[in-house]
Amino acid sequence: MTMMSTRLTRMLNIEYPIIQAGMSWASSNAALPAAVSNAGGLGVIAAGPMYLDAFRDAVREVKRAVNGKPFGVNLPLYRPEAERFLDVIEDERVPVLFASQGGPKAHLVRFQSIGTRWVHVVSTLEHARKAASAGVDALVVVGAEAGGHPPANGVSTLVAVRRAVQAFPSMPIIAGGGVADGFGIAALLALGADAVQLGTRFIATREAGVHENYKRAVLQTEIDGTVLVGVRKLPVRMTKNRFADDVLHADQHEADDDAYHALFMSSTLKQAALDGDIERGKVELGQSAGLIDDLPGAADVVMRLVDEYRSAVGRLIG
Ligand SMILES: Cc1cc2nc3c(=O)[nH]c(=O)nc-3n(C[C@H](O)[C@H](O)[C@H](O)COP(=O)(O)O)c2cc1C
Repeated sequence: MTMMSTRLTRMLNIEYPIIQAGMSWASSNAALPAAVSNAGGLGVIAAGPMYLDAFRDAVREVKRAVNGKPFGVNLPLYRPEAERFLDVIEDERVPVLFASQGGPKAHLVRFQSIGTRWVHVVSTLEHARKAASAGVDALVVVGAEAGGHPPANGVSTLVAVRRAVQAFPSMPIIAGGGVADGFGIAALLALGADAVQLGTRFIATREAGVHENYKRAVLQTEIDGTVLVGVRKLPVRMTKNRFADDVLHADQHEADDDAYHALFMSSTLKQAALDGDIERGKVELGQSAGLIDDLPGAADVVMRLVDEYRSAVGRLIG
């Protein structure tokens, strides 16, 4: 039987190098992270859009549900009240923190001294260098295929991950963007990654905290059905819909900055994720939506990923 043990599975004490990517709304609950961690992967609560009390409750609920198994929290460090979220993460002894959009230096000692692993989400090689020299435990490197906010430089997962592995040979790398099955996991581990994080795949699960319309959008979207919009603001990969068409039109016609800003801010992820408005909301999905055509439970997804990984490796070694 093909082993899936890596530096990262050993460091985080997880069975499989499979991470459910932190996703605002979709994993801003307890159900999805708990199901993934209980199945042997690492589930991650996305704190980004949550109120503090709801966040604390979700952390406690996951802890109860996983009964000692590791899980993580994803926190954008720029968000208002980030300090208070960090306090909860410390008080509750969350095993793994995925931090993004801010420097790790001010907080590292505090968390590493209590055994919380600090994983830093980076979008350029320069950010990766800074985080690595600050002493983070691992890096998340995601390519342009990813849903949400892929790196603005447009570099694909294949190239970005390989470059990170070259540049930081002693740093565990979690790769993502464009992976929806075990064949993709085998490919990224072959490149030198130590684990893979999957976002879009876990949106199409029963436990994901988004509207049914959003889940159905994953099943209906083909590999060329997403587009990068808002290149003049914060680029977001989402499905082609009326809102995306309007922004692309504004790009082509060089709308002035105020009009562009107003248009971009007129739509939100929440509108799609909670209200189910998939025509005018920001339906953030990766290109890998085109590889997904069912809506199982998250634990079944993890088991299937492991089986597919094994057949991919079996095919290679003959
Ligand atoms: C709906 C959605 C919300 C996301 N929210 C966050 C977030 O809050 N924080 C974060 O670091 N990344 C976020 N991401 C990015 C994911 O963590 C991950 O890097 C990405 O989904 C991987 O690409 P994939 O969708 O092709 O698997 C989000 C992605 C999606 C699709």
